[in-house]
Amino acid sequence: MPIKRSLDQPSSLPSKKAKSLVCSEQQKGEHPEESLRPSSLSEYIGQAPLKQVLSVAIAAAKGRADTLDHLLLYGPPGLGKTTLSLILASQMGVQCKITSAPALERPRDITGLLLNLQPGDILFIDEIHRLNRVSEELLYPAMEDYRLDITIGKGQGSRIRSLNLPKFTLVGATTKVGSLSSPLRDRFGLIQRLNYYTVPELIEILERTANLLQMPMTPAGAHVIAMRSRGTPRIANRLFKRVRDYSQVEQVNPISAELASKALDILNIDPKGLDQSDRLFLQTIIQQFQGGPVGLDAVAAATGEDIKTIEEVFEPYLLQIGYLSRTPRGRVATQAAYGHLGIDWSR
Ligand SMILES: Nc1ncnc2c1ncn2[C@@H]1O[C@H](COP(=O)(O)OP(=O)(O)OP(=O)(O)O)[C@@H](O)[C@H]1O
Ligand SMILES: [Mg+2]
Repeated sequence: MPIKRSLDQPSSLPSKKAKSLVCSEQQKGEHPEESLRPSSLSEYIGQAPLKQVLSVAIAAAKGRADTLDHLLLYGPPGLGKTTLSLILASQMGVQCKITSAPALERPRDITGLLLNLQPGDILFIDEIHRLNRVSEELLYPAMEDYRLDITIGKGQGSRIRSLNLPKFTLVGATTKVGSLSSPLRDRFGLIQRLNYYTVPELIEILERTANLLQMPMTPAGAHVIAMRSRGTPRIANRLFKRVRDYSQVEQVNPISAELASKALDILNIDPKGLDQSDRLFLQTIIQQFQGGPVGLDAVAAATGEDIKTIEEVFEPYLLQIGYLSRTPRGRVATQAAYGHLGIDWSR
């Protein structure tokens, strides 16, 4: 599963261009992918505790005619962090400017963004754990005192000029909250985790998608897709579209359990939602490293997968479903993983 985001910009981008891309997420409203995004908290399915925290924060901020506190959202990819940020902006009646840490390579990238904020705006920074030190240090006074300290000139003659910024809300999103420096983490007033979605929640999301795309689907069909969606709305929507393609080609309608299973089997997505890469990852641990414990570097080298993808995409779900455990000495495949792959555990 690619974890690349559409707004990841190459680091060589001139800051002016980086800025102009910032608002494009909202303008993509007509794009079919974007049209699946819920646009209000009430349309946002699941994550009940988080929604409750956010509704209180929104109501309180509105009551005081104030901005929302800075918010850090963390959790695996595709669970709805960007969507939530857009919803917050729309409920607060402000703009959401979206960027991602890898696009903020040079100091002027972040200063340009900060200087363009309107009062109350939400600044969404995806992958915030990847901010470099300089950008991060520019953010500290901006978050705390709505002040931007810029250095003018070089060497001995350089001096710092402070500029006032409008009050704004920083929403940071990360898949790796542990990689955030503590000074940055401490400047967020709200730190909230997004959890994997349950099967009933995923069914609800799929039914909403089927409605929006005007594709009939039986409850059993939705159940099959939900079971294979790894607790992730983005994957649920993606699998739905592949099943829809299959249904169109086979001219079978509505999407039934049988049709969904056939379509997903062709894609090599098994009933637990694991694809070939997940299975290869587990098989490698079991067959080449006797089930572990094995270091991440060694499995990455043996499977040819990137460490970041393993850590941020494969592992969180395998840990969640209990197929993998992490020990101080490395990764271990559990008995359940052996069972799923049909490999004898006692061997
Ligand atoms: N709670 C939800 N209800 C309905 N649909 C959802 C929900 N959360 C996410 N989605 C759908 O899943 C897609 C992915 O969500 P989003 O882009 O917000 O994820 P993300 O957490 O920002 O992912 P990433 O970490 O990869 O950037 C959205 O396009 C939206 O259609
Ligand atoms: Mg996102």
